[in-house]
Amino acid sequence: MKKTLSLLALLALLIPTVMADEGMWIPMLLGKNQAAMQRAGMRITAQDIYDINNACLKDAIILFNQGCTGEFVSDQGLFLTNHHCGYSYITRYSTVEHDYLTHGFWAMSRDQEIPCQGLTATRLVRMEDVTNRVLSGISDKTPEEERERIVKQNITIITTEAVAGTHYKAIIKPFYYGNQYFMYVNEVFTDVRLVGAPPSNIGKFGGDTDNWMWPRHTGDFSMFRVYAGKDGKPADFSKDNVPYRPLKHLDISLKGVDEGDFTFVFGYPGTTQRYVTHDQMELQAIQENPIRIALRDIRLRHYKNAMELSPAQRLKYASKVASIANGWKKWQGETLGINRLDGVNQKKAQEAEFQAWADKRDEYKNVLREMTRAYERISPIEIEWVYFNEGVMASDLMTRANHLFRLANTQDADEARTMCDKMSANNEKFFSDFAEHTLVDRAIFVDAMLYTYRQGQASYIDQLRGKTPVEQYLGQVYDKSILTNAGKLLAMFKKYTPKQASTLLNDPAVKLFTTAYASTYTTDKEHIYDANKREINRLMRTYVRGMMQQYPDSNFFPDANLTLRVAYGHVEGFRPKDAVYYTPYSTLAGIMDKENPDIYDYVVEPKLKQLYKTKDYGRYANLRGEMPVAFIATNHTTGGNSGSPVLNADGQLIGINFDRCWEGTMSDLLFDPAYCRNISLDIRYCLFIIEKFAGAKHLVDEMTIVE
Ligand code: ARG
Ligand code: GLU
Repeated sequence: MKKTLSLLALLALLIPTVMADEGMWIPMLLGKNQAAMQRAGMRITAQDIYDINNACLKDAIILFNQGCTGEFVSDQGLFLTNHHCGYSYITRYSTVEHDYLTHGFWAMSRDQEIPCQGLTATRLVRMEDVTNRVLSGISDKTPEEERERIVKQNITIITTEAVAGTHYKAIIKPFYYGNQYFMYVNEVFTDVRLVGAPPSNIGKFGGDTDNWMWPRHTGDFSMFRVYAGKDGKPADFSKDNVPYRPLKHLDISLKGVDEGDFTFVFGYPGTTQRYVTHDQMELQAIQENPIRIALRDIRLRHYKNAMELSPAQRLKYASKVASIANGWKKWQGETLGINRLDGVNQKKAQEAEFQAWADKRDEYKNVLREMTRAYERISPIEIEWVYFNEGVMASDLMTRANHLFRLANTQDADEARTMCDKMSANNEKFFSDFAEHTLVDRAIFVDAMLYTYRQGQASYIDQLRGKTPVEQYLGQVYDKSILTNAGKLLAMFKKYTPKQASTLLNDPAVKLFTTAYASTYTTDKEHIYDANKREINRLMRTYVRGMMQQYPDSNFFPDANLTLRVAYGHVEGFRPKDAVYYTPYSTLAGIMDKENPDIYDYVVEPKLKQLYKTKDYGRYANLRGEMPVAFIATNHTTGGNSGSPVLNADGQLIGINFDRCWEGTMSDLLFDPAYCRNISLDIRYCLFIIEKFAGAKHLVDEMTIVE
């Protein structure tokens, strides 16, 4: 028995067929998955999800700006997304008197809704396979650069024609590295208004401490409304606009979920790299991630020390730390996961299979060898760039030195004046917000530079420091730069003209930046990098096409590319490590367990405590009388899926996707059903917060609820 099992497991490793639950499928082609989805428990059809002739679930989904997903939940244009997706708008429209970020925001009537400038909501009208037209005029012999040019030209012609005489916008995206192309005809709404957001200690409960982790208790949602012109078409903000009436909005189920239940996620995943060879996996997960992590460790350590000092300091660094920590934590999970799965060797085994097949085929036999050679050429360059971006550019000193460098290179006096005025305003704000900041930033600058230097990645420092010891030299750069002297800097901006460019370039920080930049981004390196990246893309296109021929019976899903996809799976717990089992849902009781009034991430609102004490959950409690908060499932998701609806077997809304468990964040490269889980907010907690906590029942009344 044992033997057959391991043999099967070995086979599963070798054949790159998609594992159960893995995959982000194209809605238009979902017919191919329908049988499997129904076997897994789905009770609706592929056509209910995507249908070109009738209103269907896809009409309820929107792309929120260019990075999150949202879903309509009323016939009045009301939609849900994550709190962390709406974050920048909630912050932007907050003031000291009306601090929506801290206290939450609820429009009690339509006229209180806040127009969000620049925010777009994009609905997919239809999609189409346009491969033949995009590739017309191209043969196997067309050189790669020429191919790119023709593709671009064809795309312009096809998209222009597709939307002629309409208000739609069309885009075409490559799939399978350019083996296939799909066109997306979209309707882009530009009058989008903030309707509701819980206070941060609900919407961001657990903060960065709990980010990427299970068990999770974050009420990560916010609400917006799309407005349109009276004709129902997109229109820029106007008082005369009316709520948009979507062709379809989602029904909401209060039945909740149980372990084993079928679920699917419908949204806009950003990027995955399912088919890359061991070369890319090794470069990224084994070589680059640890560098990124180590350099961010330095930054986070210094920021966190500062944040311990006072609540004011904590607030100052909160959003900066949130964005640094988000990638930092994800990469740790990714590398851990790849190592646990022995991912690089798994890839090599797959490649050996491919090679054996390809040896007899001229078109394919050299692909993998050429790939490895191309990676050998780009790897050292890319690693150097990682050091530059994460190490040299770690401090505010260096980002700001970059700005001065740009200024010094501007010869036009008017342009320079505009830049100075803008920088002057920015720096004034910078210094008033961060009075003590130079201490923290100095430490980050010195430590991150030193680390980079000691890894042999900043040897240009030797030309600059002369006989001064490195650490001392770096300290001097910091202390002597005009960038760390607010008075001098602002005075300089006032009277600067391009004639003074050389003084700027002689500033020690600008000089260091300039030297670092010039030695890291040489024309030579950029040329090698671009040429080999292009070559890798061509090789990947060939390799993926080859694998599809090698395994004609497998259904290969295309990597995520910020187009609408369906992922499906089951609600399921998992074993993150030996002797630990994670159950699949969390409850309000867990929020109370985590409560700690002294730790910012774990403060609980008095009102929420009251509701917990009196068990005032209304119709939102589960059958056990608990208030469910979040759940995990095996749906294959990635960044961009934030805010995506999580639906049940009947296509009803049961949750909002907002994260993944970090033991499974390698799923962008390698999916493992034993570890990969998406994290969703239970829709019942969302409605409970709106109705019971915020007293905004009028918003729930707009929705279609199935009890
Ligand atoms: N990890 C989630 C994502 O990648 C949430 C990020 C926002 N939350 C945070 N605590 N930084 O978008
Ligand atoms: N939080 C992520 C987002 O903003 C989703 C988590 C993931 O990467 O799966 O899209």
